[in-house]
Amino acid sequence: MDHFLYRDGILHAEAVPLPEIAAAVGTPVYVYSAATLARHYHLFTEALSPLPHLVCFAVKANGNLAVLKLLGDLGAGMDVVSEGEYRRARAAGVPGDRIVFSGVGKTKREMRTALEGGIRQFNVESEPELLALSEVAAAMGTTAPVTLRVNPDVDAKTHEKIATGRKEDKFGVPIARARDIYAQAAALPGIAVVGIDVHIGSQLTDLAPFEAAYAKVADLTRALRADGHRIDRLDLGGGLGIPYARSNEVPPLPLDYGAMVRRTVGDLGCEIEIEPGRLIAGNAGVLLASVVYLKHGEGRDFLILDAAMNDLIRPAMYGAWHDIVPVVEGGAPDHVYDVVGPVCESGDTFARGRPLPPMTAGDLVAFRSAGAYGAVMASEYNARPLVPEVLVSGDHFAVIRARPSFDEMLARDTLPAWL
Ligand code: LLP
Repeated sequence: MDHFLYRDGILHAEAVPLPEIAAAVGTPVYVYSAATLARHYHLFTEALSPLPHLVCFAVKANGNLAVLKLLGDLGAGMDVVSEGEYRRARAAGVPGDRIVFSGVGKTKREMRTALEGGIRQFNVESEPELLALSEVAAAMGTTAPVTLRVNPDVDAKTHEKIATGRKEDKFGVPIARARDIYAQAAALPGIAVVGIDVHIGSQLTDLAPFEAAYAKVADLTRALRADGHRIDRLDLGGGLGIPYARSNEVPPLPLDYGAMVRRTVGDLGCEIEIEPGRLIAGNAGVLLASVVYLKHGEGRDFLILDAAMNDLIRPAMYGAWHDIVPVVEGGAPDHVYDVVGPVCESGDTFARGRPLPPMTAGDLVAFRSAGAYGAVMASEYNARPLVPEVLVSGDHFAVIRARPSFDEMLARDTLPAWL
């Protein structure tokens, strides 16, 4: 459940009518609901209790400082994959001991920054990375807490571009080699093994692949303990999917996910970490846009919006479906539109043949489920200003990232003296 509902025929974010935000901030604009973010975070903490656990929000899904602060203040940890994300989490007030660092290409500089600022653990993804981290930590006279991300060779049965746990994917180390690498880690200076990490993909709509991966992690935990390692934490990654379309996909509920976690790894006495991004932020946000023109083409009607692929890349990049709804309820969806943006590429198409009520220039539409992997993946392609973000709480809202002015955008470029 989210807090984007129609009241008197007008779509609201909590108690704020979306036309009010459009009038104040302009469109396109991302709008997030604080109550929905909090609700989704609590769903996970409830699902995992009574196991000792930490829910580390995947910052890549939505890195806005206000969103991170809201979740951090509730007690969330953060999963970061770059120095930029690490700095965002810290700037939002999240202490280092609640931040886990994932990613296949951590640089020594990123390792140093995290070790200086405080870090809960590095989720190490390769032997060369392990050696680099050992070097950095030892040189700093400190010890890096480490889990090894294992690749369990499980097919997450999700979109090709967001599956990460098969042996052909670049992520983690083959689980069959894990015992050797743990032995190597134990002998390295500046490294303290604390647990195991696994993440098999995103937008999973079935628990079975998770269960298969976690069962392998449970076996590995027992084997590593027998080898003499301390395995106190299991980072089980993120990946639980959300319903995008109203009708099809029905992903499992966090409660069922939690029961499965208890079933597979609950008796190991480990602290459980998870890294959800999409499920916390996805349905906590909409992209609000205006119709610029209605264009009658050959046998089709194009609804041309002021939002484009640079603002929401998911349909162009993954063929992803987002519900597109009129902000003012306009009767039966008896018109069929190709919903497109103004960018000069045919790929700038959000939906083909989408049934909607009759629409006209100036009307507002909302893309549902846009709170995760929306604003963070936006660009300025076609020199379009980076889309702003707004956070709603109850009956008030705040701009949490302003739309840059054209002067600000121009000022970032510099001309060489010789030109
Ligand atoms: N942990 C790690 C190590 C990850 O790589 C990811 C996502 C997550 C956690 C969070 O997964 P989630 O709970 O959000 O599924 N841009 C794509 C999604 C890419 C996901 C990448 N990794 C999209 O728009 O669908």
